[in-house]
Amino acid sequence: MSVTGSVSGVKTYNFYINGEWKRSTSGKTINIHSPYSDELIGKVQAITKEEVDEAIRFAHGMQKVWAEVPLQDRAHYLYNWADELIYMQDEIAEIIMKEVGKSFKDARNEVVRTADLIRYTVDEALHMHGESMKGDSFPGGSQSKIAVIQRVPLGVVLAIPPFNYPVNLAAAKLAPALISGNAVIFKPATQGAISGIKMIQALHQSGLPKGLVNIVTGRGSEIGDYLVEHEGINMISFTGGSNTGTRLAKKAGMIPLVLELGGKDPGIVREDADLNLAAKQIVSGAFSYSGQRCTAIKRVLVHENVADQLVDLLKEEIAALSVGSPEDGCTVVPLIDQNSADFVQGLIDDALTKNASLITGNKREQNLIYPTLLDHVTEDMRVAWEEPFGPVLPIIRVSSDEEAIRIANESEFGLQASIFTKDVNKAFTIANKIETGSVQINGRTERGPDHFPFIGVKKSGMGAQGIRKSLESMTREKVTVLNLSE
Ligand code: NAP
Ligand code: G3H
Repeated sequence: MSVTGSVSGVKTYNFYINGEWKRSTSGKTINIHSPYSDELIGKVQAITKEEVDEAIRFAHGMQKVWAEVPLQDRAHYLYNWADELIYMQDEIAEIIMKEVGKSFKDARNEVVRTADLIRYTVDEALHMHGESMKGDSFPGGSQSKIAVIQRVPLGVVLAIPPFNYPVNLAAAKLAPALISGNAVIFKPATQGAISGIKMIQALHQSGLPKGLVNIVTGRGSEIGDYLVEHEGINMISFTGGSNTGTRLAKKAGMIPLVLELGGKDPGIVREDADLNLAAKQIVSGAFSYSGQRCTAIKRVLVHENVADQLVDLLKEEIAALSVGSPEDGCTVVPLIDQNSADFVQGLIDDALTKNASLITGNKREQNLIYPTLLDHVTEDMRVAWEEPFGPVLPIIRVSSDEEAIRIANESEFGLQASIFTKDVNKAFTIANKIETGSVQINGRTERGPDHFPFIGVKKSGMGAQGIRKSLESMTREKVTVLNLSE
């Protein structure tokens, strides 16, 4: 069977198990509508628990064989995958655009970034080495004891990405898992599943041995817990919302877990900042893809002496943003669904009721929310603390660095922060006090380049991503001790 079939003219995507595309025995499918046109772009399989069991069984069987395949040969398949993605870039970008409402240019960048990430992951793995230790460096130890420390795969990795980077954040889990000798169960976000299937089609074309990667499509609310609690899963790599991540962590028990979750990244603007630079970086950070990025700047903490000036500059930058359909290459596009737009609208309404000043925006057409800038936001407003995952930016005026640091750290999230200042010493002093995984100085918050460690603390996550970190998290150290005869 091929990757798709057609029912009444609508493409129906099959799931992928043991190297074959199959229709689920459930007979049930999930409709995937485009977030901006409401067009029914396809259907994906809602698979059964028995099919999940089967996928995990195949993965286990194949993983043992794969772990024995020489690293250079594993690398070969993954390089092929990267080449296939580049070959299919327009086709995959078209689906990403339709399915998650990202502009075609950004969608194509996502595919190319993914091919680069896969290649770099392979190169990094090819250059990772184990270590050895001699016993005599510990008191009473002897030179005749030698420990050989190697990294070995964990087994079957469950990869769960979110909707907003349906290809890149999936491959950022699959590539390190596979090159390290693991098998993968890939559960795509439902809105994003077709993009994920296309990505796996490229992997299939790379000639990867069957059974190593299996896609399980279905709603997280229906098959998520079953997958996470499944005794056949040896590691979970999850990216998504903090509530889902917290639930998953409770269910996962003693399974190694990497969680990359939500954020409320502050942009701290000091009195001595280059305000033009700050305004450009903040607007690009806050509003690209309508703020549907974990790393979007989600609040501005600006010194009161420069706040009026900054607000004027932000307003000017926002006025230059294109708003509308991703098909027209717009930056601010309809949100992923109506519920998300209702949530963002609720944050705006709450702030306005509590006397925030509306600088621009608060206009809505269905799930398209125009970029909204709110000034004089205070700590009693929800938008000061909650993650909108939408195009609304609150400005909180502060009177000192200490106040900015306090408000930054009072958040339950701890993904990234930006500091804008011309004083690099001050920047480092503040950065050292900020409770986030990363701090950007004079730049917007963002994940890349993808070989940097990417870390969320507090409710923003657990463990680390970034190419090297992902390779480490999907392997464990194994110590073999040689006892030489004297
Ligand atoms: P989400 O609703 O938490 O969904 C994320 C993934 O979890 C989806 O694949 C979803 O599947 C699945 N899921 C849902 N319930 C599950 C369960 N009980 N067990 C296992 N999996 C389950 O998040 P989202 O709306 O896709 O993404 C937005 C959020 O992700 C934001 O909070 C954003 O900040 C965060 N995010 C964080 C990072 C980071 O690296 N820190 C990156 C990107 C996004 P279904 O789609 O089928 O429900
Ligand atoms: O949405 C979360 C992503 O990890 C953010 O990646 O900073 O490259 O947009 P990005």
